[in-house]
This record gives sequence, structure tokens and C-alpha cells, in this order.
Amino acid sequence: MKWYKVDRLPDRSQPFIKKIRIDGHSLCLINYEGELFALSARCPHAGEDLSRGWCADGKLVCPVHRFSYDLENGRGSTGQGDYVNTYAVTTEGEDVFVGFETFMEKVKKMFSS
Ligand code: FES
Repeated sequence: MKWYKVDRLPDRSQPFIKKIRIDGHSLCLINYEGELFALSARCPHAGEDLSRGWCADGKLVCPVHRFSYDLENGRGSTGQGDYVNTYAVTTEGEDVFVGFETFMEKVKKMFSS
């Protein structure tokens, strides 16, 4: 796993959806009910910026057609048949890091399941 530190974090005592850019990827860093999540910021339905959406019932809701994606695993809600990528998040004190699987980790995962 390759870890990237997130700069300029909002106040973590409040809920937020912050768009961040890491290694060429646009992500939503989300503080929801005291937990941090990182999901792809591009809605797979029609490409809307999911950082403009909101969270409800453990899901990130797209502001355009209201498709929603599970914060834990990125799965689209029933009937959507889609998903967004999710990323590992960890903290060290006040610092927040988002993890990307390396190419070899992805290959190993493909062949181990
Ligand atoms: S663009 Fe996100 S639900 Fe349609």
C-alpha cells in the first residue's frame, strides 16, 4: 500500500466531504459520523462530481440523479449495478493518510480470490 498524506483538512469535529487529488485521482474524503472514508469522486452513472453530493444512511448520494454508494465498500444501491472505488484511510495523530494499492497488490488480490 502506498500512503499519501492529505493536506489542508477541514475541522474533523464536523462532518465534511472534501474533494482531494492524489496521484492523478480525484477522491472524496468524507467525515461521516466520526469515521473517515475515501471514495472516487466521479459518479459512474453520468460523471458528476460526487463531492457535491451528501451522505445519508451510510451512503454517498450523487446530487444529480441521486444514485448512492456505500461508504464502506463503494457498492451502488440496489438496482444500480455499479460501484465507485474505495481507498484505505488511516490517521496518525492529526494527520490523515489515504492508501492506494500497488499494481502487484492488485494482481495478488485478483489471483487469491
Ligand atoms: S450522474 Fe450521478 S447519479 Fe447520475
